[in-house]
Amino acid sequence: MFWQHFRKSVIVSSSLIVVLCLFLVVMNYSEKPYFLLQPMLGQSFSRTWMFSRAPHKAFRPHYGYLSVPSQKPLKLHCEVCSIVSSSGQMLDREAGPDIDQSSCIWRMNNAPTRGFERDVGHRTDLRVVSHTSVPLLIQKPQHFFGQGNETVYVVWGPFRNMRQDGKGIVYNMLKQAVENYPHARIYVTTEERMNYCDTVFKKETGKDRIQSGSYLSTGWFTLILAMDMCKEIRVYGMINDTYCKSESFRKVPYHYYEAGSRDECAEYLLHESAPYGGHRFITEKAVFAKWAKSHPIKFLSPEWQLS
Ligand SMILES: *[C@@H]1O[C@H](CO)[C@@H](O)[C@H](O)[C@H]1NC(C)=O
Ligand SMILES: *[C@@H]1O[C@H](CO)[C@@H](O)[C@H](O)[C@H]1NC(C)=O
Repeated sequence: MFWQHFRKSVIVSSSLIVVLCLFLVVMNYSEKPYFLLQPMLGQSFSRTWMFSRAPHKAFRPHYGYLSVPSQKPLKLHCEVCSIVSSSGQMLDREAGPDIDQSSCIWRMNNAPTRGFERDVGHRTDLRVVSHTSVPLLIQKPQHFFGQGNETVYVVWGPFRNMRQDGKGIVYNMLKQAVENYPHARIYVTTEERMNYCDTVFKKETGKDRIQSGSYLSTGWFTLILAMDMCKEIRVYGMINDTYCKSESFRKVPYHYYEAGSRDECAEYLLHESAPYGGHRFITEKAVFAKWAKSHPIKFLSPEWQLS
């Protein structure tokens, strides 16, 4: 009688312990701090400068991106971000349905969806836009900013164009757009954040962006923003740093929506070697591959083999 009772209580208490352990494991797992980029320049640039562990909070305001004209920080959080590149690599891979499944779909500049849905998907939740592409949006204001459009626009550009004292030509265009389309959700990258993106380039490549005569690409700004805002990143249509030298390279237009333009690899090589005013697309891709080793970033269509 006693032994039976004893055995029973042993079983009960050990199953309690198992349940408790499981609970602790689950708790620990789900609270695992997420790697985030430091939102601002000037915060400790230690060895772990980039991948500091901060608790992951939904809708954490990001003061590196401020709304036009009210200067409110960007608040955004995405589980899975699909970043759709503008590359001709998007064509004929039929990634559209896959892209449409993710919680956030990001695009760059004025890359269209209409007529390309099968390959690039339907929705656009956010666009990262270069200051040089703003005139292209302004040409079709109803399409981009009209009623019912929920797309968030994040515009990057140098201070001279983005200054808010009336002398920033691009900022003025954006301000006008919001006056005409009050529902438009437009954010601009702060000067500090722009400097931070330059600093990241220097840290990663050893080269000073300005001295080396280059401009960062919209892809660079997009990935830096995504690492702060998305739990998981899926990049579609981006080629890796050795793609243009590989046997299997596909000759595609630089932009999927500009058939007949210079092909992607020709454009990349031209930029990479331009003494000034070029984008270092290939260098940037090598940096992205490095980031993908410590961040949940996947590159698809074409897929990157990252070890
Ligand atoms: C919103 O703008 C995007 C371009 O970013 C466009 O593709 C889409 O059709 C627009 N949506 C609506 C409802 O107007
Ligand atoms: C880069 O792309 C080429 C061509 O698709 C491929 O052969 C190579 O394995 C890729 N490298 C990596 C690291 O993914």
